[in-house]
Amino acid sequence: MYRTRNCGELRISNVGEEVTLAGWVQTVRKFGSITFVDLRDRYGITQLYFNEALTVALNDRPLGREFVLQAKGKVIERTSKNNKIPTGDVEIEISEYTILNAAEVPPFTIEDQTDGGDELRMKYRYLDLRRPTLKRNLELRYKVNRSVRNYLDTLGFWDIETPFLIKSTPEGARDFVVPSRMNQGQFYALPQSPQTFKQLLMVSGYDRYYQIVKCFRDEDLRADRQPEFTQVDCEMCFVEQEDILNTFEGLFKHVFYDVKGVDIKEQFPRMTYDDAMWNYGNDKPDIRFGMTIQNMKAENNVHCATITQSEAGFKVFDDAETIVAICVPGASEYTRKQTDEITEWVKRPQIGMTGLIFVKCNADGTFKSSVDKFYNPDQLKEIANFCSANAGDLILILAGKETRTRKAMSELRLEMGNRLGMRNPAEYKPLWVIDFPLFEYDEEDDRWVARHHPFTSPKPEQIELMNDRSRYGEIKANAYDIVLNGTEIGGGSIRIFQKELQEKMFAALGMSQEEAHEKFGFLLGAFEYGAPPHGGIAFGFDRLCALLGGQESIRDFIAFPKNNAGRDMMIDAPSAIDDKQKKELGL
Ligand code: AMO
Repeated sequence: MYRTRNCGELRISNVGEEVTLAGWVQTVRKFGSITFVDLRDRYGITQLYFNEALTVALNDRPLGREFVLQAKGKVIERTSKNNKIPTGDVEIEISEYTILNAAEVPPFTIEDQTDGGDELRMKYRYLDLRRPTLKRNLELRYKVNRSVRNYLDTLGFWDIETPFLIKSTPEGARDFVVPSRMNQGQFYALPQSPQTFKQLLMVSGYDRYYQIVKCFRDEDLRADRQPEFTQVDCEMCFVEQEDILNTFEGLFKHVFYDVKGVDIKEQFPRMTYDDAMWNYGNDKPDIRFGMTIQNMKAENNVHCATITQSEAGFKVFDDAETIVAICVPGASEYTRKQTDEITEWVKRPQIGMTGLIFVKCNADGTFKSSVDKFYNPDQLKEIANFCSANAGDLILILAGKETRTRKAMSELRLEMGNRLGMRNPAEYKPLWVIDFPLFEYDEEDDRWVARHHPFTSPKPEQIELMNDRSRYGEIKANAYDIVLNGTEIGGGSIRIFQKELQEKMFAALGMSQEEAHEKFGFLLGAFEYGAPPHGGIAFGFDRLCALLGGQESIRDFIAFPKNNAGRDMMIDAPSAIDDKQKKELGL
């Protein structure tokens, strides 16, 4: 037996026991003729005490960091205790030890505050994974996984696998493709999600399906996106939107409680897509804080604030399609340097605004603004009233084209939330966003595309509008997203289950009948053999884990992630393949 105990379990009650431990050398500390070694494994750290005779042996063959060591000895009480670790009351008085394997000096320190940069840690991911933070993240991931499975199991969901080598199906992103050796010139696609398969399982009668499954999307990467990521994918038969929202709200409550001890009793708030866009400027509002968007002037020259009608000669306002403001509480004393800094922030290319207007609502009831030249104190007061600003607040205003300005204000709101410490990662504020539009206009391709995916059902009372292209923008879907702290962690919909409506949908998306049958004949065919009403949802499992771990980046919640260029730095993939392989594949 390599070990009788692990490095995290010995306590004062174990004093006197003979034990054998095995693990990695974290530190070696010599004090004159004796030596202390911290030995680490997945469970924790235990201090080993080497007496004089053994220290002589260590001098002959020194231990280095990350050596793999087996050590045998007696548990004794420590004279100077370490209350920072659970094993800190005891140490092992070593009688024998064996170096199981030596180690090179690691390229970075194996501790939370490591000196290794991102790329280096990615290259030596197996060493990075030894750090306590990463270990805690993967432990959390495992617990979330177990919690999800337990909950779904109690509700009668079955885990059914679906294939990875499939046919290209459009779902918004590009597909990763795999050449077929046996069918030269033809390609499989890796699934962006098991969407059509889970629907087919419903047609087969496998009501209540789930899968914790890898999905593959060839899209530009961000902190919360990986080219291969994991979904908790679910589908149910004979359900309406309300059934899905209730079932999966239950799942979230269960996981929050099980994994974090957070007991959310109230129903999750629900917000329509339109309200989210109007009040927060995006479809995944962070509702941990207020600072909602005040719409002074909207598209189509709708003036919400009378002040914007005044034509004060201020071109930025007069010409703007949209004028939006936020009221930053307690920030009226921002210095010139601070307001300049925020102005520079909105001018960055990622945000893309040409400037920022501010109105300081001073504590004494006076106003100071960057547009004092155009607006008198009464008019500034009118702006302040419109924004429900209090004395001591700072109003930030953006004006310009609708889409860009609203998006910029949504980003600025989050930025100010960060600066004011209003986005506490330990606070969980889930939210359902409902009533998404069915279609979205793709300016680049000059056509309507499905906002969620082509299998999403329109609101039944609006199916009529599908006959009139000019009204596509008005049609809402039975589609919903779950948002946590400003991140979309899941989305789903009630599906179309009638062949005719599905064909109509494909046609609306500009697919000819032949094309629809070529791409989705299997689904349309299945709909002819008794397809039940059904709907479902999928959660971004990596995102959920990262948020429960209090972080925005999903990378450190995945054992072996890719970098921002989609590369696995450790195994060096993707890589070229040799000519023989190419020939075999007919490439
Ligand atoms: P959707 O495309 O909204 O829906 O994806 C569901 C959830 O998956 C997560 N997600 C990602 N996570 C990490 N990296 C990515 N590249 C990535 N892309 C998406 C998000 C998202 O909310 N088939 C439908 C679901 C359904 O209709 O049932 C689907 O895949 O958290």
